[in-house]
Amino acid sequence: MDAAEPNDATPFLPERRSLKALREAARGCRGCHLWRPATQTVFGEGLRRARLVLVGEMAGDREDRAGAPFVGPAGRELDRALAEVGIDRREAYVTNVVKHFKFEERGKRRIHKKPGRLEVAACKPWLDEELDLIRPEGIALLGATAAQALVGPAFRLRADRGRLLDSDLAPFVLATIHPSAILRERDDRARHEERRAFTTDLAALWKALPQGGG
Ligand code: URA
Ligand code: SF4
Repeated sequence: MDAAEPNDATPFLPERRSLKALREAARGCRGCHLWRPATQTVFGEGLRRARLVLVGEMAGDREDRAGAPFVGPAGRELDRALAEVGIDRREAYVTNVVKHFKFEERGKRRIHKKPGRLEVAACKPWLDEELDLIRPEGIALLGATAAQALVGPAFRLRADRGRLLDSDLAPFVLATIHPSAILRERDDRARHEERRAFTTDLAALWKALPQGGG
């Protein structure tokens, strides 16, 4: 990456702190180079009063086209798990650490590229503002990128997934796999097991919330 590229979304934050103002300002964010090849900013979506915030890694191909988070295959896995736990997605808030889709073109396909440390750091002011405004009771960190961005780089998903974490972010914070990890499993059995473990993790967080999660 060009060293002269900007690496901070902070100058693009709006003066007025509301979800609407943030979302509008994020549309014009040029805080890092990722906006250029992408279609649009994919900001978080959901209720200002959401009790639960779900944080993914980064907009994917489908999200980039639609302008909304978790609307592609990973979103379907997420929806399936939420339905099973009894969480109404419309009452949660769904977002990502990185708001523009990073990809590599291979023929007609756009292949997801993992966001790097600098891109995560550049984009994080948006997520910090979202969390600060919503102040949810629970936060689900979906995958290592989200967990490391919010808990710290030393966080190890394999060791610490599925249990409540001690964090200042919210009273109840839990990390689990990213739903796309389910899709990457080769055989049905492994996929089924990942799906079940993912659902179990989300259920543990939901049950921990006051009033047993709704
Ligand atoms: N993966 C993510 O992390 N977020 C999305 O919105 C879609 C896929
Ligand atoms: Fe701004 Fe984040 Fe997009 Fe980079 S990825 S341009 S920091 S919104």
